[in-house]
Amino acid sequence: MLNWMDSLRGRSLMRLASFTDEEMLDLIDLAAQLKERRRCGVRGNLLERKNIALIFEKSSTRTRNSSVIAVRDEGGGAEYLTRPDIHFGKKESVKDTARVLGRIYDGILFRGFSQKTCEELAEYSGVPVWNGLTDAYHPTQILADLLTVKETFGSLRDCTVAYVGDGRNNVANSLMMGCAKAGVRYVCCTPKELWPDEAVLAEAEAVAGKNGVDIRVFDDPRKGVKGANVLYTDVWVSMGEEAKTAERIRMLRPYQVNMDLMRATGNIGGKLMFLHCLPAFHDFNTEVTKDTGALEVTDEVFESKYSKVFDESENRMHTIKALFVSALCDRAEI
Ligand code: CP
Ligand code: NVA
Repeated sequence: MLNWMDSLRGRSLMRLASFTDEEMLDLIDLAAQLKERRRCGVRGNLLERKNIALIFEKSSTRTRNSSVIAVRDEGGGAEYLTRPDIHFGKKESVKDTARVLGRIYDGILFRGFSQKTCEELAEYSGVPVWNGLTDAYHPTQILADLLTVKETFGSLRDCTVAYVGDGRNNVANSLMMGCAKAGVRYVCCTPKELWPDEAVLAEAEAVAGKNGVDIRVFDDPRKGVKGANVLYTDVWVSMGEEAKTAERIRMLRPYQVNMDLMRATGNIGGKLMFLHCLPAFHDFNTEVTKDTGALEVTDEVFESKYSKVFDESENRMHTIKALFVSALCDRAEI
């Protein structure tokens, strides 16, 4: 029997602060239950007759495919809509598109630039809207990350996550809040220019304090990662910021995750893992990195036994499924 909190019914996810700490942790537990159910070969009907619109302004491998398969596994349908396909934001306002799609679909997952667009979709569609990444936040990613930590270490207790890289991007913002809500210590290692936004940091610090953990920001990565159990990084240049590539490479080269940095945790041979939301630059063969050799993580770390990045990416599917099921499933039909 699957269990989840009734309060999640009909809920949108704009950012992790949209949910209580208990709701966020409950969703992670539901994802673990759904993962086990799928492992046993069960394809259910929890989303039968439910249809989800996937509006994508930016590229995606994991979020798009996780969403399509999550809903298909449970008997529902998903439609992938990109900007050139629909009138969204060009010939038709976001508000009008929201009202149109809300009468057709049971839910909308949005990936795009502006957080405000995501919020407008939620305000006017009348159906749950899930943020599949904006410039500001990437909440569904962090549900998968926390599930991966919990599976690997057996619990989220007594754990320190050190994020190394662009400290104010969407993943870093959501990871900081996710750790705070889960009672996980969070360390951000980033150059001064990329320190977390003050308001985002203050909001997460208040939650962390309530849960008995702290958040620390360092510009020296070797000092920052000392004692960390999870080293986490992301690309140095997020989608939409391509014009900043040269500047970011210059700033972030000293923040590469390599075996030296893994050793600086002091936890080699102990409780230690590497995570990355992916896609990752970890070898010199990609079109983007071949001239600069700028990699946020070395192959040695990426391919090491510490790397759980493919468990993490698989968990995107189970956690997105949990989000859809908890918001849309009519329990009477289970
Ligand atoms: N991590 C993540 O969101 O991957 P995609 O960009 O492939 O969806
Ligand atoms: N920060 C990255 C995350 C990709 C999943 C980006 O926004 O491009």
